[in-house]
Amino acid sequence: MDNKGIEIQRFIVNEERKLTDRRDRRTTGNLTGLLMDLTYASKIISREVNKAGLVDILGLTGTENIHGEEVKKLDEFANDKLYRAMEHGGHLCVMASEENDDIIPIPKGYPKGKYILLFDPLDGSSNIDANASIGTIFSIHKKKTDGEIGTLEDCLQKGSDQVAAGYIIYGSSTMLVYTTGKGVNGFTLDPSVGEFILSHENINTLSKGKCYSANEGNSAFWNEGTRKYIDYLKEKDSSTGRPYSLRYIGSLVADFHRNLLYGGIFLYPADYRDPKKPKAKLRLLYEAAPLAFIVEQAGGMATTGKENIMDIVPTELHQKVPLIIGSKEDVLTYKKFISENE
Ligand code: AHG
Ligand code: MN
Ligand code: MN
Repeated sequence: MDNKGIEIQRFIVNEERKLTDRRDRRTTGNLTGLLMDLTYASKIISREVNKAGLVDILGLTGTENIHGEEVKKLDEFANDKLYRAMEHGGHLCVMASEENDDIIPIPKGYPKGKYILLFDPLDGSSNIDANASIGTIFSIHKKKTDGEIGTLEDCLQKGSDQVAAGYIIYGSSTMLVYTTGKGVNGFTLDPSVGEFILSHENINTLSKGKCYSANEGNSAFWNEGTRKYIDYLKEKDSSTGRPYSLRYIGSLVADFHRNLLYGGIFLYPADYRDPKKPKAKLRLLYEAAPLAFIVEQAGGMATTGKENIMDIVPTELHQKVPLIIGSKEDVLTYKKFISENE
């Protein structure tokens, strides 16, 4: 059946119906409800992002988050909208956000569900006032501890245990891209009807790309293997499609989305200013792991350089990891440079 043009609700229910086992359907029914609540929140955020310059939600709040980053008004707005859209649906037992130091319990009196939602409410905040593409990233796990109240332990699950992951990109159009482990599908918001319509069915990324995304301003702080890999990409060798082009927006979601559709590799390596304590920037639970789930489902790969992102067992809610993600052959070549320059 050609799915092109159907709206996201029907697509998700069709996916649910493909499941034969009644037990599966029941849990997926809850997951369907969760995803629907997420699409509602993303429409509200999209509406505000698209007129941010007209209402007083640009600029800074004057506060800092746990990462020591200035919190923008739109960060706070998106965080609040997502939380309020998700807290009462009865699908979740706990949430966690980049903008909240601790886990976010479901308020007393609201029904609790079997799922955990981890999210970066607004990714690429530094680009908000410059009107460059920004996004929301989400990761969904199933509860693994007893009782109905979600705990920190329920949030600290490895990427390969995710039941769903996705992102919304607020760009020239608003798109929602997600996976539940059965491939990757992209939906474009039709503002005239307020519906996400299937526009990119069964996304598969190229095995090898022609572009790389990295903040080369940090290259003095990278390890030897990373520096040599980037130099390798810049050498002239048409037989291996080099030199690669550099494409870097500075919004993970936007850089990832372009590389997912066109092929390519995104790198945010660790900073080795203190060789004994390399520092990473991107967060495992709600940036690296959900995008790793998506890219693997699309035939790509995601690594720290040493270990597969999806295999890392988290120890802290806001744990940071180096992230090298994209076309499989490109990521494998990067890993080779790292192992040869240990
Ligand atoms: P966030 O806005 O959620 O804090 O994420 C910003 C991240 C990510 O979007 C992007 O890839 C990276 O920061 C850019 O970092 P640099 O500005 O250091 O390149
Ligand atoms: Mn982010
Ligand atoms: Mn953010």
